[in-house]
Amino acid sequence: MTTIWDPYEMGPFRLEHRLAMSPMTRSRANADGTPGPLAVEYYRQRAGLGLLITEGTQPSDDGQGGYLNTPGIYTEAHIEGWRAVADAVHDEGARLIIQLMHVGRMSHPDNTPHHRQPVAPSAIAPGVQTHTAAGRKDIPTPRALSTDEIGATVDDFRRAALAAVAAGADGVEIHGANGYLPQQFLAPNANVREDRYGGSIENRSRFTVEVASAVADAIGPERTGIRLSPGARLGGLDEGPESGELYRHLVAELAKLDLLYLHLYYFAEDDGLLRDLRSLWPNTLLLVRNGRGVEQIGDDVARGLADIAPLGWSALANPDVVDRLRLGAVLNAPDPSTFYGGGAAGYTDYPTLANAEA
Ligand SMILES: Cc1cc2nc3c(=O)[nH]c(=O)nc-3n(C[C@H](O)[C@H](O)[C@H](O)COP(=O)(O)O)c2cc1C
Repeated sequence: MTTIWDPYEMGPFRLEHRLAMSPMTRSRANADGTPGPLAVEYYRQRAGLGLLITEGTQPSDDGQGGYLNTPGIYTEAHIEGWRAVADAVHDEGARLIIQLMHVGRMSHPDNTPHHRQPVAPSAIAPGVQTHTAAGRKDIPTPRALSTDEIGATVDDFRRAALAAVAAGADGVEIHGANGYLPQQFLAPNANVREDRYGGSIENRSRFTVEVASAVADAIGPERTGIRLSPGARLGGLDEGPESGELYRHLVAELAKLDLLYLHLYYFAEDDGLLRDLRSLWPNTLLLVRNGRGVEQIGDDVARGLADIAPLGWSALANPDVVDRLRLGAVLNAPDPSTFYGGGAAGYTDYPTLANAEA
């Protein structure tokens, strides 16, 4: 039986165990979207996880605005900021994957540098609120991207992937999950387009496949991962009764690109779709289940349903989570009041076991 403690060869990368750090937005970037010295320290502290997937990072001004102070990866300053993170993580022997997050219609103009109306597949508001500097506000109705602008957005992802590699990252993860732009194209209640990006399952999948293909062409498929959350009803999305069919099609198309990994954030109780996607995907599968408990972390790797088990809250609150799990030691509890924004408190000051005992 495979356990999370067995080493693993993921494409060009040898990993010492099957854990990883799940992408987590922390809203602590500088005003220009550059990660600062605290981010360097935060990721360095968690290098024991071996494979670190960063917080969602926008590929453009338009991609920002779901949260305050998210980092970017499309200016020289961003590249320099991320280079310091990548160097620190590499010094500790770990790998860094930058998650490319374009929030699409989940953006609030208060949270973007240009304060423009958000962009989306169609002019349909998500019907939810987000945090701004002035408190929680309704997210406004977006404007629909023109067909040409969709091509330009694909290009933003391509350039951001090149910038990530220029910063020294080992690869990127395309954020196709959690209600953001790629999933907005997938969901018929957010995408009523009549061009080749809307309507059929093939058309609704096209944007995600084009982004993956453009990124893989630019930096190599062996440096390109993608995250999907089949059926997740986040950000007002509803993929409807065809969701299973949609993901079987999408994953089969993505499989043709020979990407480094597929990362599933899986919400369904039933494993039927998960098993189908596992068999459609020839390469590495990362799997996080919504609501997974600590005692269940290794279950899907042991059952052969996944290769790697990324950790979210437990990695956030425990810089030495790998040691703690190996020892069966108690974990620090996360403090949700410091998840998004602030300074070192709840970011770089969670104690290790050694600190706690001293
Ligand atoms: C504070 C916080 C921020 C998150 N930000 C992101 C993000 O930027 N991108 C993403 O794909 N998922 C994000 N997630 C979801 C996590 O990656 C993970 O899928 C989720 O927390 C479930 O795993 P867990 O039970 O191990 O925490 C975030 C989760 C938390 C707790």
